[in-house]
Amino acid sequence: MDWPRGVDGLCYGGDYNPEQWPEEVWDDDVALMREAGVNLVTVGVFSWACLEPKEGEFDFGWLDRVMDKLGEGGVKVDLATPTASPPPWFTLAHPDALNTRPDGTVQVHGSRDTYDVHAPAYQRASLRIASELAERYAEHPALAMWHVHNEYGSTSHSAHAERAFRGWLQAKYGSLDNLNRAWWGAFWSQRYSDWDQILAPRATQYLSNPAHALDFKRFTSDALLGHYIAQRDLLRQANPEIPITTNFVFGQWAPVDPWKWAAEVDLIAFDSYPSSPDETAERQSAMHADLSRSWAGGRPWLLMEQAAASIHSPDGAIAKSPGRMARHSMIHIGRGSKGAMFFQWRSGRGGSEQWHSALVPHAGKNTRMFREVVDFGKALPGLAQGAEEPIETDVAILWSPDSWWATGDHASLPARVDYLENVAQIHRVLRDRGVVADFVRPEGDLSNYRTVIAPSTYVLSRAAAENLRWFTAGGGRLVASYLTGAVDEHCQIWLDGYLGGLTDMFGIRVTEHLPQPAGETRALWNFGAAERFCELVELRGAQCVTQYATGQVIENQPAVTVNPFGEGEAWYVSCKLVDEAWDRLFESLELTGPGLPGVDVVDRGPWRYVVNHTDAEARIGDLVVPAGGWSVVKRSS
Ligand code: GAL
Repeated sequence: MDWPRGVDGLCYGGDYNPEQWPEEVWDDDVALMREAGVNLVTVGVFSWACLEPKEGEFDFGWLDRVMDKLGEGGVKVDLATPTASPPPWFTLAHPDALNTRPDGTVQVHGSRDTYDVHAPAYQRASLRIASELAERYAEHPALAMWHVHNEYGSTSHSAHAERAFRGWLQAKYGSLDNLNRAWWGAFWSQRYSDWDQILAPRATQYLSNPAHALDFKRFTSDALLGHYIAQRDLLRQANPEIPITTNFVFGQWAPVDPWKWAAEVDLIAFDSYPSSPDETAERQSAMHADLSRSWAGGRPWLLMEQAAASIHSPDGAIAKSPGRMARHSMIHIGRGSKGAMFFQWRSGRGGSEQWHSALVPHAGKNTRMFREVVDFGKALPGLAQGAEEPIETDVAILWSPDSWWATGDHASLPARVDYLENVAQIHRVLRDRGVVADFVRPEGDLSNYRTVIAPSTYVLSRAAAENLRWFTAGGGRLVASYLTGAVDEHCQIWLDGYLGGLTDMFGIRVTEHLPQPAGETRALWNFGAAERFCELVELRGAQCVTQYATGQVIENQPAVTVNPFGEGEAWYVSCKLVDEAWDRLFESLELTGPGLPGVDVVDRGPWRYVVNHTDAEARIGDLVVPAGGWSVVKRSS
């Protein structure tokens, strides 16, 4: 029950919004879906106002016809609950259920995601529309999967949020004394003497409390998860055979801890929107795919959305060159997605996303885009064989939502830290060396890995520190970089050398943080260079691998160290290395794989997936993959 019912092999399709189009178009849609080999579409994501035009009055006629038509056409439905976009009647009747920003601004309807997940009226209305859908469609033969909500991510700072937050804090800390201790309440007179004094971290005069802010992120993730679970449970009850999921997305605005959520979904679904048109897009896509597979515990997952024809960059949409849609899809498929889905099936005629690309462009089927869609759809059924084969790797990168959240607020850090860039850097350098890495949470199971890399894992809980100690003592090779273990789970400093208290394991103490000016580098002896951040390290038994060649205070001081510990070894990189320096370190650790820069190579059982993003032919062993091409072959041995 972890795969859309009735979909054989790989999924191909996207978000389908028939409610935006006259019914004459629907027949054309189904015919074109058949032509393209589409077998799954997501319906109803934002159709609450069409399904429930007035409070408690439902109109399912159009959806009945859509479900029947798709079913007869052989296209299965991933049916969404529409709770990401409450209709205008709802917000007017329940103004307290609107999203409140930190500055107190209440976001009115007129866009989407204008809800407060903590508001009882919103929770009731969500469950009502979800249970109406469950009752009506749970047994529909076209129903393949439930898609709860869309990209959970709205954070509200309302009075409802604050009430719920206090309850969450009481359950977590038990007493105000514990909370005041954890939040370091003596600072700036922030001691609370009554639970009711605790607010959401709203706009305040100057810096806010980092422990308070981090707990609010964790609380928001849990509250959104509660909203998901409530819908899931009633959908499950209506028909236990249908898998249920929601689509994850990757953005600083999405306060969701996917490690925690993963246990509650039947299938990990991910929306991948790279943000840069150069080769960063391929790097980001590969990282999204490896994260998704890791959240899925190595099981198949599903690329639920991607843009067909363009990349959303800060400069606006940039067209994907011919073949790039297929190559991006193949990055995900090679790394474990059992299919390629898109936002969206047909480009809209109106509304704020009317210029968003789609499988069927405004100009219709006689277009280059649709021809590419049909060609790729023809190729997909042939790729089903390797789809269940696991991807084996003994290299993992720590992914810590706490560290991401805690470093998003630059104000309470020793210097600007771009956590995501630090993680992405490790992933891209490994990928360029042909290594496919898993991600793992700092408290997660590390027993399958020989090498674990902890890039600037700023927040290191006691449990995570013990986990790393256990991993290293047992024979693992840990490579941690600057600021790892700077603070604990309450954002309190790990005293006497930082490093999550693992100074004995690393055989060093970090005694000073030395942020460096932007644009300047600090050379390391025979090792490339560092930029932006260096630390002063005192050796306490570790061996110095290389030293800083330049820089005030740090000159001739240890930059990279290694310490044998138990059966394993703990490496420490006390600065932000440039890519070439990481490459050199990984070379010395013999971390290499079959891929090349710009060429993804993933081995899965007997299958080899190769995607060549370069404009030159790629030769991988005996296999030659043309420029811009991809290939899935059986390996000779
Ligand atoms: C996604 C969202 C879709 C659509 C898309 C546009 O994040 O789930 O509904 O808005 O972005 O790229």
